[in-house]
Amino acid sequence: MRITQNTLFKMYENSEKFTVLTCYDAIFASILENSGVEVLLIGDSMGNVLHGESTTLSVTLNDMIYHTRCVARGSNKAFIMADMPFGTYQASPEQAFENASKLIAAGAHMVKIEGGHVMAETINFLTQRGIPVCAHIGLTPQSIHQLGGYKVQGSDKNTARQLQQDAKILEKSGANMLLMEMIPAKLAKKITQTISIPSIGIGAGADCSAQVLVLHDMLGIYQGKQSTFVKNFMVGASSIQNAVANYVQAVKTGKFPSKEHEF
Ligand code: KIV
Repeated sequence: MRITQNTLFKMYENSEKFTVLTCYDAIFASILENSGVEVLLIGDSMGNVLHGESTTLSVTLNDMIYHTRCVARGSNKAFIMADMPFGTYQASPEQAFENASKLIAAGAHMVKIEGGHVMAETINFLTQRGIPVCAHIGLTPQSIHQLGGYKVQGSDKNTARQLQQDAKILEKSGANMLLMEMIPAKLAKKITQTISIPSIGIGAGADCSAQVLVLHDMLGIYQGKQSTFVKNFMVGASSIQNAVANYVQAVKTGKFPSKEHEF
């Protein structure tokens, strides 16, 4: 049976953590879902881990459509989320709808878009027209030149308050989930407690409703710089399937992320 938004929301209501991993092709879609991963994210991190770029900015809508189709073909259980790449949704809600609908047609069940309160109108437009949205705040890699580097966000009073306000505004605008990247664990916990939609953390501590990692990071095969929040689950594992199952188990039992993986 296919995992739907309702399945994930029920898990959230029962305080059962769900797991997310990035996925870009059919074979991994089947490996990941058969090892217990509930959500497959076709991340624009493909720019880094598949294309060898130093940012996600060159990933195109056609790249995303192609990889979403591959993942959808290889999956018959997981919930499928696809990133909207840079430049395909920021101009207007209408632009976002036109492009998001292509990802949904390719097999995504939800799209993810980066940005705080400025994205509220777009999220409202999409969700009112049948496209579920995960909002992504904190470190938003598509704004890397504006942020000046891959740094922890929300570590001072003002930026922490802004992130809390953004989370509430995005929830109110209709966001179905909230992803928080590289923010202090205490702040992520506070935000998770004040919203009524599932939070997904990456470098945001153990108190989020779900966790996500980039597949190539958790398999220890990405050659670039590794962040503090990454754990290589291949260490001590007998196979990729075993490593992924260990990740799922560690998230569900609250063993990952541990203090060493948080800010
Ligand atoms: O593109 C991606 O892989 C992501 C994760 C970092 C959450 O957005």
